[in-house]
Amino acid sequence: MKKKRIGILTGGGDVQPLNAVIKSAIDSANRNNFQLIGFKRGWQGVLEKESVPLNNKILDRTIGGTILKSSRVNLTKIKGGVELVKKNVDEIGLDGLIVIGGEDTLSNSFCLKDVPQVLISKTIDNDVGIADGRKVVNYFTLGHPTAAEKISSFVSLSEGLRSTAYSHERIIVVESMGMHAGWLALSSSMGHPDFIIIPEFTLDYSNFLDKVVEKYGEQKDLIIVIAEGARWSDGSYISADESEKDSFGHPRFKGAANLLAEKMKKDLKKFFDTRNVNSVDPSYLYRSGRPNKLDLSAAAKLGRAAVNYFKSGGNNTVLLTTNFKDGKLVTGSYSLSGVSNIDDLHRFVTERFYDPSTMNATKEGKKYIRNIVTEFPLNSYGI
Ligand code: F6P
Repeated sequence: MKKKRIGILTGGGDVQPLNAVIKSAIDSANRNNFQLIGFKRGWQGVLEKESVPLNNKILDRTIGGTILKSSRVNLTKIKGGVELVKKNVDEIGLDGLIVIGGEDTLSNSFCLKDVPQVLISKTIDNDVGIADGRKVVNYFTLGHPTAAEKISSFVSLSEGLRSTAYSHERIIVVESMGMHAGWLALSSSMGHPDFIIIPEFTLDYSNFLDKVVEKYGEQKDLIIVIAEGARWSDGSYISADESEKDSFGHPRFKGAANLLAEKMKKDLKKFFDTRNVNSVDPSYLYRSGRPNKLDLSAAAKLGRAAVNYFKSGGNNTVLLTTNFKDGKLVTGSYSLSGVSNIDDLHRFVTERFYDPSTMNATKEGKKYIRNIVTEFPLNSYGI
């Protein structure tokens, strides 16, 4: 009998557990005597037939990034791109494809209805996973737990910026990644920032300044988290450079935290000395380094589940999902036969999770996040 031949690719922004999911798929493929072929640079590798056999690859699952490398390819923007991918998949004799990506990379899969695919959502943005507008089908995307732990630690008192903020009576504006969705910024609530600004809720600047003056007056230090894709109340982005767009039309963000801190410096001068209004942008540090325990465990399960889908004769397209059952991580699969577009699975922060009046996570929001990140201690400090 012909050996099953499965392709695997990683696209979009890298996350820490990508090698871990690839390693798990290799191990599973070996156990089942499947041939696993890795495409280089995401969909680019399928377009150019640039691939490597993976079965004999020795891989450290704890090293972040992706040995397969990544790219942001929009097949619909390449003339004949979809047809070429179909042709190459046929010629290589693939029985199926494991596609690991965020909303953009996964959007290409919907143009390839005849190719059996297992989709694994990975993005620190955590913005893939809602169905029918409300039902959570995918609790978190791969990579989000590690990034969420990082941002919480970066703002916390025990590990992060709060210690210098309180010592120097600083206001520190911290930038989070997240172009359309504020999940990563929101998850920082486990490190107890004072205010969180996210793309889904536009910033009423004068109202925000009132809150800042009041809370700084009481506390004498503040940590404010702002997502890169945050917007002013007229809907315009705080920091987007529209002249540098990627193939999906997303602008390059140029530092909302810095812009906001500079503006606050000027506008708060009449209330107090603003020399200590600063900004910090951890940027790619959110996506770098080693995956945490939850991500490693999810990666191991998802890689195995992807190969098992084809083992059990699956020949449609499904999204693998993460969830919790009795406090334990479980994975599942969600059929995409009734889903025409990745937008149907796009997840945004709503008022259930974020309270625009306190500019922080709601009780429900914190409950959701606590399953993903351990809360940092909220010690009291000062004299
Ligand atoms: O899509 C994930 C993400 O991390 C976004 O939050 C961010 O805007 C984007 O990637 C930036 O990625 P890059 O600089 O790699 O294009």
